[in-house]
This record gives sequence, C-alpha cells and structure tokens, in this order.
Amino acid sequence: MTEHPSPVAASPAAVFAHRHLLGIEGLLPEEIVALLDLAEEAVSVSRQVEKKKTVLRGRTQINLFFEASTRTQSSFELAGKRLGADVMNMSVGSSSVKKGETLIDTAMTLNAMNPDLLVVRHHAAGAVHLLAQKVGCAVINAGDGAHEHPTQALLDALTIRRHKGDIYGLRVAICGDILHSRVARSNILLLNALGAEVRCVGPSTLLPRALDRLGVSTFTDMRKGLEGADIVMMLRLQRERMDGSFVPSVREYFHFFGLDAEKLAFAKPDALVMHPGPMNRGVEIDSAIADGPQSLIREQVEMGVAVRMAVLEALARNLPNGGA
Ligand code: CP
Repeated sequence: MTEHPSPVAASPAAVFAHRHLLGIEGLLPEEIVALLDLAEEAVSVSRQVEKKKTVLRGRTQINLFFEASTRTQSSFELAGKRLGADVMNMSVGSSSVKKGETLIDTAMTLNAMNPDLLVVRHHAAGAVHLLAQKVGCAVINAGDGAHEHPTQALLDALTIRRHKGDIYGLRVAICGDILHSRVARSNILLLNALGAEVRCVGPSTLLPRALDRLGVSTFTDMRKGLEGADIVMMLRLQRERMDGSFVPSVREYFHFFGLDAEKLAFAKPDALVMHPGPMNRGVEIDSAIADGPQSLIREQVEMGVAVRMAVLEALARNLPNGGA
C-alpha cells in the first residue's frame, strides 16, 4: 500500500445530492465516500438482532428486474425492508412484458402507482437512464447490459476498505471477461476515482480497446497481471452477452486465466480475492481459492445489503419531503 494518505477524506458533512443512482460515472470521490460511510452504519444495523430502521417508513420501493438475479434483487428487497419501506418485487416473467408491453410502458404503469424508489435491472445498456427520464421517482440502476452496475462497485469498495483501510494506492487486478462486464466498468470508474491502480487481465478477445481511455493497464498474461496485486477481482465469462466464440474452450480458459493457488502466488502474500457472483467454479476460479482464507466472496454478499441500504436512504433524503 502507498505511504501517502488518501486525498479523499471521509467527512460527516459530505452529502449525496443526486436524484437517481444510474452509474458511478459522474459521482465525485467524496460522494462515493459518503455512501460508503453511510453503508458502514448499515453494516452495524444488519448485524443487530433488531435490524429495523424507520427512515423509509411510508415509502414504496419497486424492484423491476428484466434479467435474472440472486444477490442484487434479494439484497435490495432486504435493504428496503430493513429501512421500513413497503417493497414490491415485480415479477417480469409473469407480467404484461410477456404480452409485448415495452419497458417504458411498464415503467409508466408502475409510476402511476406512485412509488418512491424504483430499482431496475435491464439487459440493454442505457435502458435505466431512459427510464429515469420518464418517471417521477428515484431510480437505481441494478445493472444495465454491459454498461454499469454501480451498487456492485460500491459494495466491492466497502469490502476492500474494511480490510485494507483505504482504497488509495492499492493495486487491483480485475480478471476475466472485461468486455461484457458492467461490474468491471463500474469498478474501474470507482477505483480510479478513489486512487487505486487498476489492472485488467484477460485474453485479448475479452479486453475492450477503450480500456486505455479509462486509465487502466492491460495484461494478457495472468501471472504478470497479478504481480504485486493487493486485490484480485475475478469475473465470470458472460456467455449470455457473447455473440460468437471468445475463448477456444473452458478447459483452456481455466488453464490460462482461471485463478488457482499457483497464479494467486504472484499477487502479494496478503492479497484478497473477490468475485461479484454468480461464480463458475473450475472456469474462472478454483473452488479451493473461492472457499479459501483469502476469499472475501461471502463478505461481499453481506456488504451488498449494507450498500443498498445506504443508497436507498441517501436517495430517499433527496425525495420531496425526504427530510434532508
Ligand atoms: N453480482 C450480481 O449482480 O449478482 P446477481 O446477478 O445474482 O444479482
């Protein structure tokens, strides 16, 4: 870790003044830190026997997921309930979307029921931004195509900060299918904003050319990319977004880019391993590493609830009559 102090001081006065959370792009470092600090309080609340707060009492939260989710949807539901909101999970599979209703018509229909917070996941990049322009409530991007997944990056940052003390100066290697990953994009933006050194590691077919513009270095040799890393963040091969073949075979992919003990040894001895989930064991990560002492994967899930509580609370403060 760097000897220099972080330039982003946590400040009790820092505020998150946005109406929506559509991405990490556009957030100031101090706004990110304000959300992480608020999430720390939510970690404490979530570890108590009595997990209820009342900051969202009377508020209605709708979770609208057009794509499959285990972690994000369930943690947003728990987060809203822990803050006292009425939470509705919209089941898109059995909704009128199946009869041809568009995203915007679906959103406008739900908007007419006066929700306060709308959590949206959609397979198209930019869909959540479009929707946010049409509705009267606060909108949270729970993942839009290969574009952004801001609450994933925030929960990853919270997890890292709790173990390393600060993000500034850390070397973070993000490995795997960067090309199709909204998690990678949001993490690159956040980690850069907080002063980490970000490396992207993967086969050239899965490293987008635009990475240079995002201020990261790229590696096609996993061992070189992991050298001296404080954090190793593994990503799934996102086959559902692949149009064609990007890797010769899963077996070969694991041989060159799967994280096992031999490759992890190139990172720092106290390096920590992360994965946003869902994991494909034996494809991008060996089970011994995923379940081993350096893994933070289960803790990331816990931090997911805390971060989503923080985001809901921060946005609720900015609602009309939000008590900000
Ligand atoms: N990390 C993540 O977004 O997981 P889910 O797809 O299960 O929500």
